[in-house]
Amino acid sequence: MWRISGALSGIFRQYDISNVDQLVCLLAEPRAEELARNVVEALLNNETYFFRDKLMFDQLAESILPQLWEQRQAQRTLRIWSAGCSSGQELYSVAMLLLAQRERWSGWHIDLLGTDVSTRIIAAARKGCFSQFEVQRGLTVSQMLGYFDQRDDGWCPQQELRKMVTFREHNLLERAPVEAPFDLVLCRNVLLYFDPATRSRVFDRLHEAIHPDGRLMLGAGETVIGQTERFVPAGDGSGLYAPITVSGGLRLRA
Ligand SMILES: C[S@@+](CC[C@H](N)C(=O)[O-])C[C@H]1O[C@@H](n2cnc3c(N)ncnc32)[C@H](O)[C@@H]1O
Repeated sequence: MWRISGALSGIFRQYDISNVDQLVCLLAEPRAEELARNVVEALLNNETYFFRDKLMFDQLAESILPQLWEQRQAQRTLRIWSAGCSSGQELYSVAMLLLAQRERWSGWHIDLLGTDVSTRIIAAARKGCFSQFEVQRGLTVSQMLGYFDQRDDGWCPQQELRKMVTFREHNLLERAPVEAPFDLVLCRNVLLYFDPATRSRVFDRLHEAIHPDGRLMLGAGETVIGQTERFVPAGDGSGLYAPITVSGGLRLRA
């Protein structure tokens, strides 16, 4: 409760509200859309940082991306979705991994999409300028200097990095983005805030959005086990899940 009150303190000040009961009454009034939107924004946990859970990013660089490179030789296209991307550090981290392997991916069509339900946070991700504190959380000095320029508004991505990523508002409970199907979806540290029924609906949506031989990556403390029948542990890495396809009554995975 203290976390909720803390998160709402700005709203209380902005709307001159003295307690949660008064807030609930105001939310029940007609035309409370703006207040409701601001309350949702205030309650979202946007905690993120570059290369969060380094082991997972090592796994991405050393096995998942090379595997996708093999799998997609015929098309030479790669589509990755960071679902619940917060201010973009996760997707910028993936883009930096790909830039570090630039010879391998030369001539490929690469789509990197980041989405989040928060309007405010998507605006920050699009701008992509990070404070000193934010870049020091996860980036090495050579990554900071190699991919970002220090400006008055913070550490901003260089053109090569910026043009690799696209950010858009999207609610995970809605239909998948038009770019689907994706080869890899990162939905990390998002689902743990949902109740079991909502989580199960989101897994259904994610399943629709992933290529049958694609992969879903969850956060370090998350799993599909006991949550959905749509995915199983992929076996080719921890935190990685494969979509199940049903054919003639058989449950198959690529
Ligand atoms: C804790 S952050 C995780 C960010 C990043 N994936 C990571 O692991 O560092 C969770 C993000 O999920 C977003 N989120 C929460 N509910 C969502 C929904 N229904 N649709 C899309 N994004 C959502 C929040 O706005 C927040 O930015």
